[in-house]
Amino acid sequence: MNVLVIGSGGREHAICWKLQQSSHVTQIFCAPGNAGIAELAICLPINPTDIERLAETAIAQKIDLTIVGMDDPLSLGVVDHFKKKGLRIFGPTQEASKLEWSKYFAKEFMLRHNIPTAAYASFDQRDFALAYAKSQKTPIVIKADGLALGKGVTIAKNLDEAQIAIHDCFDGRHGKAGQRVVIEEFMKGQEVSIFAICDGENAITLAPAQDYKRLCDGDLGPNTGGMGAYAPVPFVTPEFLGHVMETIIQPTIAGMKEEGYPFQGILYCGLMVDEDGIPRVVEFNSRFGDPETQVVLPLLDEDLFELCWAVTEGDLGKYKEGLHRLGGAALCVTIASHGYPGNYQKGIPIDFSRLNEPVEVVSGKNPQTIESILRAKGIIFHAGTARDTDGRLVTNGGRVLGVTGLADNLLDAQVLAYKLCERIDIEGKYYRKDIGDKGMV
Ligand code: AMP
Ligand code: GLY
Repeated sequence: MNVLVIGSGGREHAICWKLQQSSHVTQIFCAPGNAGIAELAICLPINPTDIERLAETAIAQKIDLTIVGMDDPLSLGVVDHFKKKGLRIFGPTQEASKLEWSKYFAKEFMLRHNIPTAAYASFDQRDFALAYAKSQKTPIVIKADGLALGKGVTIAKNLDEAQIAIHDCFDGRHGKAGQRVVIEEFMKGQEVSIFAICDGENAITLAPAQDYKRLCDGDLGPNTGGMGAYAPVPFVTPEFLGHVMETIIQPTIAGMKEEGYPFQGILYCGLMVDEDGIPRVVEFNSRFGDPETQVVLPLLDEDLFELCWAVTEGDLGKYKEGLHRLGGAALCVTIASHGYPGNYQKGIPIDFSRLNEPVEVVSGKNPQTIESILRAKGIIFHAGTARDTDGRLVTNGGRVLGVTGLADNLLDAQVLAYKLCERIDIEGKYYRKDIGDKGMV
Protein backbone atom coordinates (compact mmCIF):
# COMPACT_ATOMS: atom_id res chain seq x y z
CA MET A 1 0.00 0.00 0.00
CA ASN A 2 1.11 3.54 -0.72
CA VAL A 3 0.29 6.03 1.99
CA LEU A 4 0.36 9.83 1.85
CA VAL A 5 0.72 11.88 5.04
CA ILE A 6 -0.16 15.60 4.93
CA GLY A 7 1.93 17.91 7.11
CA SER A 8 5.51 18.75 8.01
CA GLY A 9 5.99 18.68 11.77
CA GLY A 10 7.03 16.35 14.56
CA ARG A 11 3.53 14.90 14.60
CA GLU A 12 3.79 13.89 10.95
CA HIS A 13 7.26 12.44 11.54
CA ALA A 14 5.78 10.30 14.33
CA ILE A 15 2.91 9.21 12.05
CA CYS A 16 5.36 8.23 9.28
CA TRP A 17 7.62 6.46 11.80
CA LYS A 18 4.68 4.40 13.05
CA LEU A 19 3.38 3.64 9.55
CA GLN A 20 6.81 2.39 8.55
CA GLN A 21 6.36 -0.45 11.06
CA SER A 22 3.25 -1.72 9.27
CA SER A 23 3.63 -4.77 7.06
CA HIS A 24 0.95 -3.35 4.74
CA VAL A 25 2.88 -0.24 3.87
CA THR A 26 5.26 -0.34 0.92
CA GLN A 27 5.90 3.35 0.34
CA ILE A 28 5.18 6.44 2.42
CA PHE A 29 4.84 9.86 0.81
CA CYS A 30 4.65 13.08 2.80
CA ALA A 31 3.52 16.53 1.68
CA PRO A 32 5.58 18.54 2.33
CA GLY A 33 7.52 16.69 5.11
CA ASN A 34 10.88 17.73 6.58
CA ALA A 35 14.48 16.49 6.66
CA GLY A 36 13.74 13.75 9.22
CA ILE A 37 10.65 12.53 7.40
CA ALA A 38 12.71 12.41 4.19
CA GLU A 39 14.65 9.51 5.72
CA LEU A 40 11.52 7.33 5.69
CA ALA A 41 9.27 8.83 3.07
CA ILE A 42 9.32 10.49 -0.31
CA CYS A 43 8.69 14.16 0.44
CA LEU A 44 6.57 16.05 -2.06
CA PRO A 45 6.94 19.85 -2.11
CA ILE A 46 3.21 20.59 -2.07
CA ASN A 47 1.60 23.23 0.06
CA PRO A 48 -0.73 21.33 2.44
CA THR A 49 -3.52 23.82 1.75
CA ASP A 50 -3.39 23.14 -2.00
CA ILE A 51 -5.99 20.43 -1.82
CA GLU A 52 -6.47 20.14 -5.59
CA ARG A 53 -2.78 19.39 -6.10
CA LEU A 54 -2.77 16.97 -3.20
CA ALA A 55 -5.59 14.99 -4.80
CA GLU A 56 -3.98 15.07 -8.27
CA THR A 57 -0.76 13.79 -6.71
CA ALA A 58 -2.58 11.08 -4.78
CA ILE A 59 -4.04 9.85 -8.06
CA ALA A 60 -0.71 10.08 -9.92
CA GLN A 61 1.24 8.27 -7.19
CA LYS A 62 -1.45 5.60 -6.75
CA ILE A 63 -1.95 6.42 -3.08
CA ASP A 64 -4.15 3.86 -1.30
CA LEU A 65 -4.69 5.87 1.89
CA THR A 66 -4.06 9.49 2.85
CA ILE A 67 -3.70 10.55 6.50
CA VAL A 68 -4.18 14.22 7.34
CA GLY A 69 -1.88 15.35 10.15
CA MET A 70 -2.62 19.04 10.36
CA ASP A 71 -5.73 21.19 10.79
CA ASP A 72 -5.69 23.67 7.88
CA PRO A 73 -6.39 21.20 5.07
CA LEU A 74 -9.25 19.71 7.12
CA SER A 75 -10.91 23.10 7.54
CA LEU A 76 -10.49 23.67 3.79
CA GLY A 77 -12.31 20.41 3.01
CA VAL A 78 -9.44 18.15 1.90
CA VAL A 79 -11.40 15.10 3.04
CA ASP A 80 -14.54 16.10 1.10
CA HIS A 81 -12.43 16.79 -2.00
CA PHE A 82 -10.55 13.47 -1.83
CA LYS A 83 -13.78 11.53 -1.29
CA LYS A 84 -15.37 13.23 -4.28
CA LYS A 85 -12.45 12.00 -6.36
CA GLY A 86 -12.91 8.48 -5.02
CA LEU A 87 -9.75 8.62 -2.88
CA ARG A 88 -9.52 6.99 0.53
CA ILE A 89 -8.59 9.44 3.28
CA PHE A 90 -8.38 9.42 7.08
CA GLY A 91 -9.80 12.53 8.74
CA PRO A 92 -13.08 14.36 9.31
CA THR A 93 -14.96 16.28 6.64
CA GLN A 94 -14.98 20.07 6.62
CA GLU A 95 -18.29 20.16 8.50
CA ALA A 96 -17.19 17.56 11.06
CA SER A 97 -13.89 19.36 11.70
CA LYS A 98 -15.90 22.44 12.63
CA LEU A 99 -15.52 21.12 16.19
CA GLU A 100 -11.98 22.47 15.88
CA TRP A 101 -12.18 25.38 13.47
CA SER A 102 -15.13 27.13 15.13
CA LYS A 103 -14.92 27.47 18.89
CA TYR A 104 -18.40 29.00 18.74
CA PHE A 105 -19.81 25.92 16.99
CA ALA A 106 -18.02 23.65 19.48
CA LYS A 107 -19.44 25.52 22.49
CA GLU A 108 -22.99 25.56 21.10
CA PHE A 109 -22.67 21.88 20.22
CA MET A 110 -21.57 21.02 23.77
CA LEU A 111 -24.47 22.98 25.17
CA ARG A 112 -26.95 21.16 22.89
CA HIS A 113 -25.58 17.78 23.93
CA ASN A 114 -24.98 18.44 27.58
CA ILE A 115 -21.21 17.94 27.35
CA PRO A 116 -19.38 19.49 30.32
CA THR A 117 -17.36 22.61 29.47
CA ALA A 118 -16.73 26.13 30.82
CA ALA A 119 -19.66 28.59 30.89
CA TYR A 120 -19.42 31.05 27.98
CA ALA A 121 -21.02 33.70 25.86
CA SER A 122 -20.19 34.60 22.27
CA PHE A 123 -20.29 37.93 20.44
CA ASP A 124 -19.91 39.33 16.96
CA GLN A 125 -20.07 42.92 18.22
CA ARG A 126 -17.30 44.61 20.15
CA ASP A 127 -19.48 46.66 22.51
CA PHE A 128 -21.50 43.71 23.71
CA ALA A 129 -18.32 41.69 24.25
CA LEU A 130 -16.74 44.51 26.27
CA ALA A 131 -19.87 44.96 28.38
CA TYR A 132 -20.10 41.24 29.07
CA ALA A 133 -16.41 41.02 30.07
CA LYS A 134 -16.96 43.88 32.49
CA SER A 135 -19.80 42.01 34.17
CA GLN A 136 -17.68 38.88 34.78
CA LYS A 137 -15.11 37.83 37.37
CA THR A 138 -11.44 37.61 36.41
CA PRO A 139 -9.42 35.71 35.34
CA ILE A 140 -11.47 35.26 32.24
CA VAL A 141 -10.68 33.64 28.91
CA ILE A 142 -11.05 35.46 25.57
CA LYS A 143 -10.96 33.32 22.41
CA ALA A 144 -11.05 34.16 18.73
CA ASP A 145 -13.65 31.88 17.13
CA GLY A 146 -11.57 30.51 14.25
CA LEU A 147 -8.15 28.92 13.68
CA ALA A 148 -5.52 31.43 14.85
CA LEU A 149 -2.26 29.46 14.84
CA GLY A 150 -2.59 28.77 18.57
CA LYS A 151 -2.50 32.52 19.26
CA GLY A 152 -6.24 33.20 19.54
CA VAL A 153 -6.62 32.44 23.26
CA THR A 154 -5.92 34.96 26.05
CA ILE A 155 -6.22 34.17 29.73
CA ALA A 156 -6.92 37.68 30.99
CA LYS A 157 -5.89 38.20 34.62
CA ASN A 158 -7.82 41.46 34.85
CA LEU A 159 -10.35 43.53 32.95
CA ASP A 160 -7.66 45.58 31.18
CA GLU A 161 -6.13 42.47 29.63
CA ALA A 162 -9.58 41.21 28.69
CA GLN A 163 -10.41 44.48 26.94
CA ILE A 164 -7.12 44.47 25.02
CA ALA A 165 -7.77 40.90 23.86
CA ILE A 166 -11.31 41.78 22.74
CA HIS A 167 -10.07 44.83 20.83
CA ASP A 168 -7.31 42.73 19.24
CA CYS A 169 -9.92 40.32 17.87
CA PHE A 170 -12.24 42.99 16.48
CA ASP A 171 -9.31 45.04 15.15
CA GLY A 172 -8.40 42.09 12.95
CA ARG A 173 -5.24 40.85 14.68
CA HIS A 174 -6.29 37.24 14.03
CA GLY A 175 -7.84 38.02 10.64
CA LYS A 176 -11.21 36.43 9.99
CA ALA A 177 -10.75 34.09 12.97
CA GLY A 178 -11.42 37.00 15.36
CA GLN A 179 -14.62 38.32 13.84
CA ARG A 180 -16.50 36.42 16.48
CA VAL A 181 -15.29 36.16 20.07
CA VAL A 182 -16.02 33.52 22.69
CA ILE A 183 -15.68 34.67 26.31
CA GLU A 184 -15.29 31.84 28.77
CA GLU A 185 -15.15 31.11 32.46
CA PHE A 186 -11.60 30.31 33.60
CA MET A 187 -11.28 26.67 34.69
CA LYS A 188 -8.70 25.62 37.27
CA GLY A 189 -7.09 22.22 37.30
CA GLN A 190 -4.80 19.87 35.43
CA GLU A 191 -4.98 19.50 31.67
CA VAL A 192 -4.94 16.20 29.83
CA SER A 193 -5.21 15.36 26.14
CA ILE A 194 -7.26 12.31 25.23
CA PHE A 195 -7.31 11.18 21.60
CA ALA A 196 -10.20 9.04 20.44
CA ILE A 197 -10.01 7.34 17.08
CA CYS A 198 -13.53 7.39 15.60
CA ASP A 199 -15.28 5.87 12.60
CA GLY A 200 -18.45 7.95 12.85
CA GLU A 201 -20.05 5.57 15.31
CA ASN A 202 -17.40 3.85 17.41
CA ALA A 203 -14.64 5.55 19.37
CA ILE A 204 -11.56 4.09 21.08
CA THR A 205 -9.07 6.03 23.16
CA LEU A 206 -5.29 6.07 22.78
CA ALA A 207 -2.82 6.65 25.66
CA PRO A 208 -3.66 9.81 27.64
CA ALA A 209 -1.00 12.51 27.36
CA GLN A 210 -0.09 15.78 28.97
CA ASP A 211 1.13 18.66 26.84
CA TYR A 212 3.37 21.53 27.99
CA LYS A 213 2.20 24.61 26.09
CA ARG A 214 4.05 27.40 27.88
CA LEU A 215 7.59 28.37 26.95
CA CYS A 216 9.21 28.30 30.39
CA ASP A 217 9.59 25.92 33.30
CA GLY A 218 6.76 25.99 35.83
CA ASP A 219 4.24 26.71 33.03
CA LEU A 220 5.30 30.33 32.76
CA GLY A 221 5.88 32.54 29.75
CA PRO A 222 4.01 32.73 26.46
CA ASN A 223 1.98 29.96 24.82
CA THR A 224 3.80 27.97 22.16
CA GLY A 225 3.00 25.19 19.75
CA GLY A 226 4.08 22.76 22.48
CA MET A 227 7.34 22.43 24.43
CA GLY A 228 6.95 18.78 25.33
CA ALA A 229 4.61 16.00 26.36
CA TYR A 230 4.51 12.68 28.14
CA ALA A 231 2.23 9.66 28.28
CA PRO A 232 0.54 7.92 29.95
CA VAL A 233 -0.75 10.31 32.62
CA PRO A 234 -0.89 8.66 36.07
CA PHE A 235 -4.17 10.21 37.24
CA VAL A 236 -6.00 8.91 34.17
CA THR A 237 -7.27 5.64 35.60
CA PRO A 238 -9.52 3.23 33.69
CA GLU A 239 -12.46 4.58 35.75
CA PHE A 240 -11.62 8.15 34.78
CA LEU A 241 -11.35 7.17 31.10
CA GLY A 242 -14.70 5.40 31.37
CA HIS A 243 -16.22 8.61 32.71
CA VAL A 244 -14.69 10.66 29.85
CA MET A 245 -16.04 8.15 27.36
CA GLU A 246 -19.51 8.30 28.84
CA THR A 247 -19.85 12.04 29.45
CA ILE A 248 -17.73 13.51 26.63
CA ILE A 249 -16.62 11.22 23.80
CA GLN A 250 -19.74 9.14 23.23
CA PRO A 251 -22.16 12.10 23.39
CA THR A 252 -19.90 13.96 20.92
CA ILE A 253 -19.79 11.10 18.43
CA ALA A 254 -23.52 10.46 18.76
CA GLY A 255 -24.33 14.19 18.54
CA MET A 256 -22.23 14.71 15.40
CA LYS A 257 -23.90 11.74 13.75
CA GLU A 258 -27.35 12.92 14.76
CA GLU A 259 -26.67 16.42 13.38
CA GLY A 260 -25.57 14.96 10.07
CA TYR A 261 -21.76 15.23 10.37
CA PRO A 262 -20.52 11.79 11.46
CA PHE A 263 -17.01 12.25 12.84
CA GLN A 264 -14.31 10.03 11.33
CA GLY A 265 -10.71 10.50 12.34
CA ILE A 266 -9.06 11.64 15.56
CA LEU A 267 -11.20 13.49 18.08
CA TYR A 268 -8.72 15.33 20.27
CA CYS A 269 -10.30 16.14 23.63
CA GLY A 270 -8.39 18.80 25.54
CA LEU A 271 -9.72 18.43 29.07
CA MET A 272 -9.40 20.33 32.33
CA VAL A 273 -9.70 18.13 35.40
CA ASP A 274 -10.68 19.88 38.61
CA GLU A 275 -9.68 19.06 42.21
CA ASP A 276 -12.51 16.54 42.48
CA GLY A 277 -11.30 14.74 39.37
CA ILE A 278 -14.19 15.96 37.20
CA PRO A 279 -13.20 16.61 33.56
CA ARG A 280 -14.57 19.42 31.39
CA VAL A 281 -13.73 20.20 27.77
CA VAL A 282 -11.27 23.04 27.11
CA GLU A 283 -11.19 22.44 23.37
CA PHE A 284 -11.80 19.88 20.69
CA ASN A 285 -9.39 19.37 17.82
CA SER A 286 -10.10 17.19 14.85
CA ARG A 287 -6.63 15.69 14.35
CA PHE A 288 -3.69 14.29 16.31
CA GLY A 289 -2.06 16.73 18.75
CA ASP A 290 1.48 17.99 18.43
CA PRO A 291 3.66 17.11 20.40
CA GLU A 292 1.39 14.53 22.10
CA THR A 293 1.49 12.26 19.04
CA GLN A 294 5.25 11.91 19.53
CA VAL A 295 4.55 10.12 22.84
CA VAL A 296 1.19 8.48 22.09
CA LEU A 297 2.17 6.59 18.93
CA PRO A 298 5.38 5.05 20.34
CA LEU A 299 3.17 3.47 23.05
CA LEU A 300 0.60 2.12 20.59
CA ASP A 301 1.00 -1.61 20.09
CA GLU A 302 -1.31 -1.77 17.07
CA ASP A 303 -0.74 -1.28 13.40
CA LEU A 304 -1.59 2.39 12.71
CA PHE A 305 -2.26 1.68 9.05
CA GLU A 306 -4.81 -1.02 9.95
CA LEU A 307 -6.50 1.29 12.44
CA CYS A 308 -6.81 4.15 9.97
CA TRP A 309 -8.02 1.77 7.28
CA ALA A 310 -10.67 0.40 9.65
CA VAL A 311 -11.90 3.95 10.23
CA THR A 312 -12.36 4.54 6.52
CA GLU A 313 -14.29 1.25 6.33
CA GLY A 314 -16.48 2.18 9.33
CA ASP A 315 -15.12 -0.96 10.93
CA LEU A 316 -13.56 0.18 14.22
CA GLY A 317 -16.09 -1.95 16.09
CA LYS A 318 -13.69 -4.87 15.70
CA TYR A 319 -11.36 -3.20 18.22
CA LYS A 320 -14.10 -2.88 20.82
CA GLU A 321 -12.00 -4.64 23.46
CA GLY A 322 -9.69 -1.60 23.30
CA LEU A 323 -6.28 -1.05 21.75
CA HIS A 324 -3.13 -2.80 22.89
CA ARG A 325 -0.75 -0.43 24.53
CA LEU A 326 2.93 -1.03 25.30
CA GLY A 327 3.88 -0.80 28.96
CA GLY A 328 6.19 1.92 30.20
CA ALA A 329 6.18 5.57 29.34
CA ALA A 330 7.21 8.02 26.63
CA LEU A 331 8.40 11.57 27.10
CA CYS A 332 9.14 14.17 24.43
CA VAL A 333 11.16 17.36 24.88
CA THR A 334 10.91 20.02 22.19
CA ILE A 335 14.19 21.65 21.24
CA ALA A 336 13.33 25.12 19.97
CA SER A 337 15.25 27.82 18.13
CA HIS A 338 16.60 30.76 20.12
CA GLY A 339 13.88 33.44 20.19
CA TYR A 340 10.90 31.14 19.61
CA PRO A 341 7.91 31.77 19.78
CA GLY A 342 9.03 35.26 18.71
CA ASN A 343 11.48 35.88 15.87
CA TYR A 344 14.19 33.30 15.32
CA GLN A 345 16.82 32.54 12.75
CA LYS A 346 16.64 29.57 10.38
CA GLY A 347 19.50 27.66 8.76
CA ILE A 348 21.47 26.92 11.95
CA PRO A 349 23.39 23.61 11.71
CA ILE A 350 22.12 20.65 13.75
CA ASP A 351 24.89 18.39 14.95
CA PHE A 352 24.06 14.89 16.18
CA SER A 353 27.65 13.65 16.37
CA ARG A 354 27.78 13.57 20.17
CA LEU A 355 24.80 11.19 20.27
CA ASN A 356 27.22 8.39 19.51
CA GLU A 357 29.06 8.84 22.79
CA PRO A 358 28.06 6.20 25.34
CA VAL A 359 25.23 7.30 27.64
CA GLU A 360 25.99 7.00 31.36
CA VAL A 361 23.19 5.08 32.91
CA VAL A 362 23.35 6.19 36.52
CA SER A 363 20.53 8.39 37.74
CA GLY A 364 20.95 9.59 41.30
CA LYS A 365 17.22 9.77 41.78
CA ASN A 366 16.39 6.11 41.50
CA PRO A 367 18.87 3.21 41.49
CA GLN A 368 16.46 0.87 39.69
CA THR A 369 16.65 3.19 36.81
CA ILE A 370 20.09 1.86 35.88
CA GLU A 371 18.75 -1.43 34.66
CA SER A 372 15.63 -0.14 33.02
CA ILE A 373 17.33 2.69 31.20
CA LEU A 374 19.43 0.09 29.44
CA ARG A 375 16.20 -1.03 27.85
CA ALA A 376 15.21 2.53 27.04
CA LYS A 377 15.02 3.84 23.53
CA GLY A 378 15.43 7.31 22.10
CA ILE A 379 13.63 8.55 19.01
CA ILE A 380 14.38 11.93 17.51
CA PHE A 381 11.37 13.33 15.69
CA HIS A 382 12.08 16.25 13.40
CA ALA A 383 9.78 19.30 13.33
CA GLY A 384 11.43 22.37 11.76
CA THR A 385 14.42 20.87 9.95
CA ALA A 386 15.72 21.00 6.37
CA ARG A 387 18.85 20.29 4.33
CA ASP A 388 20.81 23.29 3.11
CA THR A 389 22.32 23.50 -0.39
CA ASP A 390 25.32 21.49 0.82
CA GLY A 391 23.07 18.77 2.22
CA ARG A 392 23.77 19.71 5.84
CA LEU A 393 20.97 19.32 8.38
CA VAL A 394 19.82 22.77 9.55
CA THR A 395 17.00 24.37 11.54
CA ASN A 396 13.97 25.47 9.54
CA GLY A 397 11.39 26.45 12.16
CA GLY A 398 10.74 27.52 15.73
CA ARG A 399 10.26 24.04 17.06
CA VAL A 400 13.16 22.05 15.67
CA LEU A 401 13.14 18.56 17.22
CA GLY A 402 10.96 16.42 19.46
CA VAL A 403 13.44 14.34 21.43
CA THR A 404 11.57 11.33 22.74
CA GLY A 405 12.61 8.86 25.40
CA LEU A 406 10.81 5.54 25.65
CA ALA A 407 11.41 3.49 28.82
CA ASP A 408 9.92 1.20 31.44
CA ASN A 409 8.82 4.17 33.54
CA LEU A 410 8.41 7.91 33.24
CA LEU A 411 11.53 8.81 35.21
CA ASP A 412 13.76 6.80 32.90
CA ALA A 413 12.04 8.17 29.82
CA GLN A 414 12.76 11.64 31.21
CA VAL A 415 16.41 10.89 32.04
CA LEU A 416 16.96 9.49 28.57
CA ALA A 417 15.21 12.33 26.69
CA TYR A 418 17.27 14.91 28.56
CA LYS A 419 20.55 13.05 28.03
CA LEU A 420 19.83 13.10 24.32
CA CYS A 421 18.90 16.81 24.39
CA GLU A 422 22.23 17.65 26.04
CA ARG A 423 24.10 15.88 23.25
CA ILE A 424 22.38 17.55 20.34
CA ASP A 425 24.29 20.66 19.33
CA ILE A 426 22.38 23.58 17.86
CA GLU A 427 23.63 27.08 18.55
CA GLY A 428 21.17 28.88 20.86
CA LYS A 429 19.04 25.74 21.40
CA TYR A 430 16.34 26.11 24.05
CA TYR A 431 14.27 23.52 25.87
CA ARG A 432 12.27 23.27 29.08
CA LYS A 433 13.91 21.30 31.88
CA ASP A 434 10.74 20.13 33.66
CA ILE A 435 8.86 18.08 31.08
CA GLY A 436 7.24 15.13 32.83
CA ASP A 437 7.70 16.40 36.39
CA LYS A 438 3.92 16.71 36.78
CA GLY A 439 3.57 13.01 36.10
CA MET A 440 5.99 11.82 38.79
CA VAL A 441 3.79 10.62 41.60
P1 AMP B 1 -7.28 26.34 23.32
O1 AMP B 1 -6.65 26.86 22.06
O2 AMP B 1 -8.74 26.55 23.40
O3 AMP B 1 -6.82 24.98 23.64
O4 AMP B 1 -6.62 27.17 24.51
C1 AMP B 1 -5.22 27.17 24.71
C2 AMP B 1 -4.91 26.95 26.17
O5 AMP B 1 -5.51 27.98 26.96
C3 AMP B 1 -5.49 25.67 26.74
O6 AMP B 1 -4.68 24.57 26.52
C4 AMP B 1 -5.58 25.99 28.21
O7 AMP B 1 -4.33 25.85 28.83
C5 AMP B 1 -5.94 27.43 28.21
N1 AMP B 1 -7.41 27.61 28.31
C6 AMP B 1 -8.28 27.71 27.30
N2 AMP B 1 -9.54 27.84 27.78
C7 AMP B 1 -9.45 27.83 29.11
C8 AMP B 1 -10.41 27.95 30.18
N3 AMP B 1 -11.70 28.13 29.94
N4 AMP B 1 -9.95 27.88 31.44
C9 AMP B 1 -8.63 27.73 31.69
N5 AMP B 1 -7.69 27.61 30.74
C10 AMP B 1 -8.09 27.67 29.46
N1 GLY C 1 -0.87 20.06 21.54
C1 GLY C 1 -1.86 20.99 21.16
C2 GLY C 1 -2.38 20.82 19.81
O1 GLY C 1 -1.96 19.97 19.06
O2 GLY C 1 -3.26 21.56 19.43
